[in-house]
Amino acid sequence: MSSIRTVPTTPYPDQRPGTSGLRKRVRVFQQPHYLENFIQAVFDAFPERAGGTLVLGGDGRYHNAAAIQVILRMAAANGFERVVVGRHGFLSTPAASHLIRSRRAFGGIILSASHNPGGPEGDFGVKYNVGNGGPAPESVTERIWQISREIEAYRILEAADLPLGRVGELRLGPMVVEVVDPVTDYAALMERLFDFGRIRALFDSGLFRMRYDAMHAITGPYAREILEHRLGAPPGTVVNAEPLPDFGGGHPDPNLVHAHALVEAMSGRDAPDFGAASDGDGDRNMILGRRFFVTPSDSLAVLAANAHLVPGYAKGLAGVARSMPTSRAVDRVAERLGIHCHETPTGWKYFGTLLDAGLITLCGEESFGTGSDHVREKDGLWAVLFWLNLLAVRREPVEAIVRAHWRAHGRHYYRRHDYEGLDPDPAGELMEALRRALPGLPGRRFGELEVSAADDFAYTDPVSGERSEHQGIRILFGEAARAVLRLSGTGTAGATLRVYLERYEPDPARHGLDPAQVLAPVAAAVDAIAGLRERLGRDRPDVVT
Ligand code: G1P
Ligand code: ZN
Repeated sequence: MSSIRTVPTTPYPDQRPGTSGLRKRVRVFQQPHYLENFIQAVFDAFPERAGGTLVLGGDGRYHNAAAIQVILRMAAANGFERVVVGRHGFLSTPAASHLIRSRRAFGGIILSASHNPGGPEGDFGVKYNVGNGGPAPESVTERIWQISREIEAYRILEAADLPLGRVGELRLGPMVVEVVDPVTDYAALMERLFDFGRIRALFDSGLFRMRYDAMHAITGPYAREILEHRLGAPPGTVVNAEPLPDFGGGHPDPNLVHAHALVEAMSGRDAPDFGAASDGDGDRNMILGRRFFVTPSDSLAVLAANAHLVPGYAKGLAGVARSMPTSRAVDRVAERLGIHCHETPTGWKYFGTLLDAGLITLCGEESFGTGSDHVREKDGLWAVLFWLNLLAVRREPVEAIVRAHWRAHGRHYYRRHDYEGLDPDPAGELMEALRRALPGLPGRRFGELEVSAADDFAYTDPVSGERSEHQGIRILFGEAARAVLRLSGTGTAGATLRVYLERYEPDPARHGLDPAQVLAPVAAAVDAIAGLRERLGRDRPDVVT
């Protein structure tokens, strides 16, 4: 016999979801009732949930297994009729998004702190996605936060842990728990979008080698099944394929700093032709050619320019979108294709309404996120398969494809400088001072650059009408150069300042320069304007991507 208990609780003041759900140290989530309070707040934000289906899974990080059992018991006590959960509690973020959509679920809970380190000392997170498969919009996350601040009790079923190791249906009080293979539906979706026959022929040719680094995170099982089993890539193509609770002690963020083992493997004399990596929950991607790094902004532009070569996108793109700090490389492609390019605030949630309304087909962010209307999250493996499809059709090296793209559209030199672990006060004051200085900036010269415009980015969603303010400071230096500054919304300790630098170069004779050198004047201008050195006491960024 199982019975529903109402457990009295007191609110925690810090349950406001950030750029991507509620993200905290594991120890914070392990406080009594902490997880329960937040989950109840999520459920209470949707009184109409009764009888609905919930999708549930996570990236396998430490605390995933324990949290899944609690959420299952709470879902059973809160009126859900069915929960679709990945075997062992595993689901990548894009696979969860797909399941929510394909099962017409009420929503989904994804347990992940994305690329943040895991383990008992690491981070944990909870994201709530709505019925379209995408992250809850800000109006919803703010409602959840309000409820969390007044919560008095939560409801939970008294029951033993469920065994989630085998596919099939289980009962939990009045609710059905359906354990599904986390990969099957997602792999089928990829087969519908991409030309698997052609990609298989590329691997079969023996002229092409690839290395995929799953970084001991969730995409290992997905990449093994799709790349090695369905596409015929040789065993061993996928490395670090086993998801581990602490990601093997690594930092599962696919960029030049944290995926350095892959970068090294791709820079040797006998390097493979194509390299790729994904993050903790499988929504980010990094694309490498032999001794060649494709910036995420360029990757988005190249995918848009070549989409007609891929079956799932051959009928053309409705439009594209990029987050504001992302380089404007894709804008040029859109212009040439005669389609609209939307500029949104940072965070995938802003693409959702545009995708739902059919205004865009592809979208992306400079932070190693690329995606399309096939789900409502960014999708790491999808981006890799898109590239594989292009490579299989064009049969050229990655570098040649990108260089040809630059010749046709010009090159957007681009870098992001992150200043991490800052004291939140001076970081906040820096942004405030910058805001106050904005009106006086146009016309001022910094070395060879002159400020033409500067603003605090605000966005009105063209579909929902929802307004989002203070989404980053933009400083434009004519047509060619741009700097953006904003504070991270995903950190769990201190503040992180992100400085995004961009400079456009139309002349192909100048496409082989060192990005650091080309961008040095923009970086110097930002330092002079914002006073990074004096205010933060830092003379160089912690991470450059
Ligand atoms: C970061 C990235 C942003 C991305 C988010 C979730 O957010 O910059 O593009 O959508 O992670 O993956 P931030 O920490 O900058 O708020
Ligand atoms: Zn992620």
